[in-house]
Amino acid sequence: MMRPLLGQLSCGVGLAALLSACAGAPPVANAPVAAESVALTPEGLLARMSVERKVAQLVMPDIGSITPEDVRQYRFGTILNGGNSGPYGDDKAPAADWLKLADAYWEASTAPLPNGEPVIPSVWATDAVHGHANVIGATVFPHNIALGATGDAELIRRIGAATAVEIEVTGIDWTFAPTIAVARDDRWGRTYESYSENPELVAKLGAAMVEGLQGRPGEPGFLGQGKVAATAKHFFGDGGTAQGVDQGDVNGDLAELMAIHAAPYPAAIGAGVASVMASFNSINGGKMHGNGPLLTAELRGNLGFQGLVVGDWNGHGQVTGCSNADCPEALLAGLDVYMVPEEWKALHASLLAQVRDGTIPMARLDEAVLRVLRLKAELGIFAGEVKPSARALGGKWDLLGSPEHRAVAREAVAKSQVLLKNLGVLPLKPGARIEVAGSAADNIPQQAGGWSVTWQGGGDLTEADFPGATSIWDGIAAAARASGGEAVLAPSGGSTGTPDVAIVVFGEAPYAEFVGDRKDMAFRDEEGLTLLKSYRAKGIPTVAVFLSGRPLWMNRELNAADAFVAAWLPGSEGAGVADVLFGQRPATGRLSFSWPAACDGNPVNGPEGALFPLGYGMGFESLQRLPVLDETCAALTQDAGAAWFANGKLGAQVQAVADNALLPDLRGGGNGITATGIDRKAQEDARRIAFAGGAKLTLTGAESAAGWRITYQVTARPSAPVTVKAGGNAFDITQGLSVAEGKGWREMVLTSACLGQTGSSLTFASQSAFTLEISEITRDESAAAAECSF
Ligand code: BGC
Ligand code: BGC
Repeated sequence: MMRPLLGQLSCGVGLAALLSACAGAPPVANAPVAAESVALTPEGLLARMSVERKVAQLVMPDIGSITPEDVRQYRFGTILNGGNSGPYGDDKAPAADWLKLADAYWEASTAPLPNGEPVIPSVWATDAVHGHANVIGATVFPHNIALGATGDAELIRRIGAATAVEIEVTGIDWTFAPTIAVARDDRWGRTYESYSENPELVAKLGAAMVEGLQGRPGEPGFLGQGKVAATAKHFFGDGGTAQGVDQGDVNGDLAELMAIHAAPYPAAIGAGVASVMASFNSINGGKMHGNGPLLTAELRGNLGFQGLVVGDWNGHGQVTGCSNADCPEALLAGLDVYMVPEEWKALHASLLAQVRDGTIPMARLDEAVLRVLRLKAELGIFAGEVKPSARALGGKWDLLGSPEHRAVAREAVAKSQVLLKNLGVLPLKPGARIEVAGSAADNIPQQAGGWSVTWQGGGDLTEADFPGATSIWDGIAAAARASGGEAVLAPSGGSTGTPDVAIVVFGEAPYAEFVGDRKDMAFRDEEGLTLLKSYRAKGIPTVAVFLSGRPLWMNRELNAADAFVAAWLPGSEGAGVADVLFGQRPATGRLSFSWPAACDGNPVNGPEGALFPLGYGMGFESLQRLPVLDETCAALTQDAGAAWFANGKLGAQVQAVADNALLPDLRGGGNGITATGIDRKAQEDARRIAFAGGAKLTLTGAESAAGWRITYQVTARPSAPVTVKAGGNAFDITQGLSVAEGKGWREMVLTSACLGQTGSSLTFASQSAFTLEISEITRDESAAAAECSF
């Protein structure tokens, strides 16, 4: 974003304001640059900053918790939008609102300051982890796991470049990408953010993404127009936690762990990555955000990283002895910027006090601030940068989701398809009559996956939230027509005709982070399997297209299909799938993760335990028959239905309804209920459920229950009756809730002892406005005989 110096600067912006020559003065045209250039170096600016403003450079709040007025007052160095934050409180805000808000922050952060203090614009960071996918209308590229299957660094460089342009169109400066995790246990909910289980492949592709986003250091245009700052994340060990538990502990010999999980960092650092994000996980018990030997001695000393270390979402608060609002330990360990979405005010105050009382040496503060200022200098912000909408690409809406960018995404989709089985059905014959089944076939939110418009993706998103996108079905229909054949969409199968071939599209519902953690590799949703079997019973050849964020145990589906394609999470350009099915492009995708032979979930990172090894995948030249695969899976018969709500997610067959409005994952609003995510042990793992007077919330499960255990808290007692009903009478719980007021998280047990009768649903109703917070609801058969308790 380096722009020519000055020109149309207005008061309060850029150089003129930095020199404080502006108060009350008319716009300055050509300021005396040379004489003042020292004052504009990061060091020169630092020398003129107050300690309050220095501390503010290290505090990164979320746009959902600040107003431009807060920015004007505090002058945060940086700000972010989390996956669930959109401009003006709207996740689905039109693209123009992002730019408008970026301008508002720019103006607030560049308003003149008294006493010659320099004015330093705030920069905004976003999670453009597969395209600028928080923004409606952006090109949504396949997730990293799919890019790993392309193995194509040059393609990934082009994806980075297209993504950077789209980010800049909306006025944002910095992305929290690429993730260079080496996922080694596919139960981890972030496996799809990893290019590969192979550290070398991750290193190569991660560095390519950095170059695409930022340009190459030392070359013209580096971090210039159409380029944004990148972040290598999460340092380090994110992909190595025990049992694939997100934010968990990584155990083992440090050198061995580094050889796998830190291996991609030298390449990213060599490519000039501007920032590194500290990881949520701990290593042998010590949380990374407080880990001086690794964040400083290792990352800076041995790996030679000179950029900025940014924290992860309240990650500092997880360090022993810290809270979100108070954690000098993180800065002392080597963190430069705290990602503190909500509690920024309290953190600013505590850091300030700690600098004043010497807990934090001034030299450490200055060092961290300098890194923030250097990032801004590299972005061109002190060299005549203007407000986002006045920049060369600001508001160039034709570049957002442009045909050129979509073509790159479609190419990536095609190159990422991995053919695992083919008895000769593929490529599809020209002129074929095709039936396309499966609820994922015409489902853009599902093919986009997590980190798409919203943090979790899916849920209540629809095709309308992805304007310009193409579903897998759309692509197949167009290709079938072009080949002289025809396709029909029959989501639940069984249209009356006899097609030449059936394509069944099925897979994982979207998720992000810990919400996607699982205990095993069994895929319990049998929709695809049932469809494949029903076509096979009619003698119709089948092609299985599996959408997923990771390899899963697919033995049953592989047995039932005549061809099987791992399609990953392709994003907005579903037509790339048809390009391969119809042989318009070769099948060149190769597994970047070992595919498990068993469903137990034991990590497979190599030939042992693999059904298909790393690098597997076939072209059309040869047929691929498989022996009949073992379909036994103990995990499938275990009771997975006990959790009705846990870790921020409803159980597989559980629904939450506010009268007629469905609340996916117990989030959203409808008929007097507003359910929002709140943090108990992890981000948004609990819900704050606000009832309007007379509102009702019902949860239904597949099985009837003898009792429930509910972890809940009440901050203010109800002022009118609240009842719960589960088959029998409405039972008044007002008294229980009143006793719980202000006592923190507690457990409520509900059985037929108070409910009279139980069933497969629970209905809460409140006669007046009342707020209940819930973190867990589990069905409990052993509670049958128990008394109810609060
Ligand atoms: C994730 C990061 C992300 C950040 C901001 C965290 O929960 O771990 O990858 O960049 O949130 O959304
Ligand atoms: C995500 C954010 C998201 C937040 C919700 C984080 O883990 O990375 O982007 O908005 O959780 O609380």
